[in-house]
Amino acid sequence: KILVLDFGGQYNQLIARRVRDHHVYAEILPYTTPLETIKANGYKGIIFTGGPNSVFDMSSPHYTKNILDLGVPILGICYGCQLIAWMGDGEVKTAPVSEYGKIELNAKDSVLFKGVPEKSVVWMSHTDYIATPPQGFEIIGYTDDCPCAAMENKAKNIYAVQFHPEVTHSEYGKQVLYNFLYEVCKCSGDWVMDNFIDNTVKELREKIGDKHVILGLSGGVDSSVAAGLLSRAVGKQLTCVFVDQGLMRKDEGDFVEKTFTELFDMNFVRVNCGEHFMECLKGVTDPEQKRKIIGTEFYKVFWDEVRARAAEGFFAQGTIYPDRIESGKGKSDGKAQTAVIKTHHNMVEKPKDISFIDTIEPLGDLFKDEVRAVGEKLGIPHELVWRQPFPGPGLGVRIIGEVTAEKVRILQDADWVLRDEMSKNGYESNLAQFFCVLPGVNSVGVMGDHRTYDNVVVIRAVTTDDFMTADWARIPYDILAKVSNRITNECAHINRVVYDITSKPPGTVEWE
Ligand code: XMP
Repeated sequence: KILVLDFGGQYNQLIARRVRDHHVYAEILPYTTPLETIKANGYKGIIFTGGPNSVFDMSSPHYTKNILDLGVPILGICYGCQLIAWMGDGEVKTAPVSEYGKIELNAKDSVLFKGVPEKSVVWMSHTDYIATPPQGFEIIGYTDDCPCAAMENKAKNIYAVQFHPEVTHSEYGKQVLYNFLYEVCKCSGDWVMDNFIDNTVKELREKIGDKHVILGLSGGVDSSVAAGLLSRAVGKQLTCVFVDQGLMRKDEGDFVEKTFTELFDMNFVRVNCGEHFMECLKGVTDPEQKRKIIGTEFYKVFWDEVRARAAEGFFAQGTIYPDRIESGKGKSDGKAQTAVIKTHHNMVEKPKDISFIDTIEPLGDLFKDEVRAVGEKLGIPHELVWRQPFPGPGLGVRIIGEVTAEKVRILQDADWVLRDEMSKNGYESNLAQFFCVLPGVNSVGVMGDHRTYDNVVVIRAVTTDDFMTADWARIPYDILAKVSNRITNECAHINRVVYDITSKPPGTVEWE
């Protein structure tokens, strides 16, 4: 395995993902990890990430020089590259102008650049640069403005690049990483999802023994794949608790139930509490209060169901690797942190009166794309594996104002038509998320000879990489026309369809 030693760069997760794309397991640890731990973990190679700081600022993240003498190959990227120069008494300077964007790299003969042409485009983002490489290092690449864009110390197997091989703008970045992993570190490339499934199933069986496991299943990607894995490992010793609060999309609860009862060996407990939720939401119009009620009631129902089954068992959850890194809870041995309930805005603390032998996070080392790959291999339906994000409070935040059973039905019908039409036109995969919203506004319409006064429905569709910002999707007019036609024809109590053309910011993806 490879260590990605994190010096605060914005691309640290991307580096680990790119390494894994080459079938080599990579984990991210902060630069505060002691050298002893790194030594004990037996890495095949170490990558120093970029970072926003300057190496000569003593408050910037640094690392003990001794890491350069571990005998483990190292690749420094951007700040990591400067750090290697600085640690080895090279000369790092601040340039009058930053080098930013796509820049032409001149690569010299080096194992790191095997298969990389003499001139290629790389992605740069730096102000400091290496004026003189440290002793024992040779310059192996330069650009017009950067005399040392790459350097190597062959004897010690230490390499460093000023550019970012992990971003796709670096034409041969993939090749550079490949060379480091296979030519320098001699990795074997055994990180493939089939191995992951086999190993994890074995580990889960050993850990769980003849005890039972409880998993909260939401029907989202992560919990579904966790359910699939646990089912393969321990079958009926697994109980999945699926709380249906009546605010899911049309027929979704039935689909989740059918999938897990028919395709997987487990105890599946579905708690239908739609009526209870409607009761709790009666007369409530404030968005925050609605969210709060839905969240609180959800966990009340969930933990009540779990409480009766908790004794002498394990608790499992679908936490994935980014959840752990983001929450700063990645343990230094890279294993899942136990007994912590997923720190997500949907998750609340486990009540004190419920106790488990331990918490299991079978997907705790995986990135989302790996989770999906495992899901596909386990035979979980494509629809679940590629499911769009769905807010915890469900349709509750897509019905503006008071939520009633009738409004839920109206919205579910319209949303179903939108999904059906997107699917028929093969347009689903172009978008990060699309759905309908019921804004709680009536408008005047005409149907035959009659005047109508009925609901407006909003179509919301966005493209985005990370959901922090988003653009409204340019769905072709023909598809929108079909959706509008069908919704007004097929769905009761809707006489007008509008399209939300607001980006985020200033809008959010959801309406509440
Ligand atoms: P916003 O509306 O904040 O949404 O732009 C960004 C993304 O987050 C989803 N979302 C939620 N997800 N629980 C969730 O698990 C929530 O309470 C929640 N609220 C919004 C939203 O669907 C979008 O993908």
